[in-house]
Amino acid sequence: MSMPPDREAPAEHPIEALLRRRWSPRSFTGAPVERAALDSLLEAARWAASSSNQQPWHLIVARKADEPEAFGKLLGVLAPGNQPWAGQASVLMLAVARMVNPANGNPNRHAFYDTGAAMAQMALQAAALGMQLHQMGGFDAAKAREVFGIREGYEPATAIALGPVGVAEALPEALAAREVAPRQRRPIGEWAFFGGWQV
Ligand SMILES: Cc1cc2nc3c(=O)[nH]c(=O)nc-3n(C[C@H](O)[C@H](O)[C@H](O)COP(=O)(O)O)c2cc1C
Repeated sequence: MSMPPDREAPAEHPIEALLRRRWSPRSFTGAPVERAALDSLLEAARWAASSSNQQPWHLIVARKADEPEAFGKLLGVLAPGNQPWAGQASVLMLAVARMVNPANGNPNRHAFYDTGAAMAQMALQAAALGMQLHQMGGFDAAKAREVFGIREGYEPATAIALGPVGVAEALPEALAAREVAPRQRRPIGEWAFFGGWQV
């Protein structure tokens, strides 16, 4: 269940251990996730910052064991490349952003940003509890809208696979290689500019 130490982010400057431990696996054991652990994940998301405290995030949660129909529906909207491995996860989720401010009906241009922030907090809580989650932009948003009856004003943002992490060897060869490949990031100097814009 614990991650091999070499998956930890090779950070170049000191950061919290939890930040180094979070990653996006494709191998999941499929073991059920306790309801209490799921509640902790949702609570972690709940306390994210958001524009005007609108908290635009919404989430469909489908446990393979407890909500098999919804799990199957969610699996069915994933991109073909994501389906084989994501289907092994214990839980699939769909994060949906409310795109309108309910207080005044104005568009909320921060809805995706804030939903992402909440999911980032959830990802760290998952890592803290010895699991990981894997976000997927590879899904059919129009199909998700139709399958789950998501009305206008709400926008599917990301699908998520969650659970205890399995071994890389359980994956098909090409995915197994990616599972153990070195983790890479752009150098900070490419995107952080002290004193002005430099792109
Ligand atoms: C919004 C978003 C969409 C993503 N979509 C996919 C996807 O469709 N399929 C996939 O295998 N990984 C997907 N990923 C995972 C990224 O590839 C991964 O986060 C990135 O390579 C960095 O790796 P790490 O999360 O292990 O640090 C997505 C991640 C995010 C945040």
